[in-house]
Amino acid sequence: MSKTARRLLLLFAHPALHKSRVNHLLLSHVQSLPGVTVNDLYEAYPRFLINVAREQALLLEHDVIIFQHPFYWYSSPAILKQWQDLVLEFGFAYGKDGTRLHGKLFLTAISTGGPSSAYQRSGSNYFTIRELLAPFEQTARLCGMTYLPPFIVPGVLWMDDEQELASYASTYRRALEALRDNTLNVSEIMKLDTLNQAMALLPAS
Ligand SMILES: Cc1cc2nc3c(=O)[nH]c(=O)nc-3n(C[C@H](O)[C@H](O)[C@H](O)COP(=O)(O)O)c2cc1C
Repeated sequence: MSKTARRLLLLFAHPALHKSRVNHLLLSHVQSLPGVTVNDLYEAYPRFLINVAREQALLLEHDVIIFQHPFYWYSSPAILKQWQDLVLEFGFAYGKDGTRLHGKLFLTAISTGGPSSAYQRSGSNYFTIRELLAPFEQTARLCGMTYLPPFIVPGVLWMDDEQELASYASTYRRALEALRDNTLNVSEIMKLDTLNQAMALLPAS
């Protein structure tokens, strides 16, 4: 890890982790990485009673904020909405003097049941995943954060090759390590559709 290492806060949201195949695997690949703090929201707040002061303190202690979750109804599981509604307060995250998140990086990491081909004008979901993630992107922008291209594991309902899934999990780990160690040029990443593609920019290990 370099001296300029960033601290990553991974806000994890899955309402039935015991049934999860994808997010459980992704999480298992990154949860013990130095510099990564995992905040499992359904585990911490089974009754949705979010501790706003704790969450705001966690945000302030980290440089990269990650939302990791399965894509549910073109968005996130409910607790992440609750978290945004309560934690991203006026005067803290936005509005007058609401500059506490300025300069941080923001990343969405999702798995989608539908394949990439379904997320286009001619596909069953019409909109691209990036378009559907617009509320997250604009939330990050309003809060003065840099919205990175999302990390996506697409088409998981049809993905029966466990090697393919394991490969996504390894890529996710490499992506978080690169963000932590500042080995990717953020302005270069910003030109990409997904963070997955940024792995090609990394020097061979
Ligand atoms: C309530 C619910 C809503 C879902 N909505 C979508 C959706 O909008 N788009 C999509 O591609 N997949 C959708 N899916 C499929 C999930 O994204 C998929 O099952 C999940 O990514 C698998 O991850 P996991 O193994 O960690 O649960 C939905 C699944 C559930 C249970």
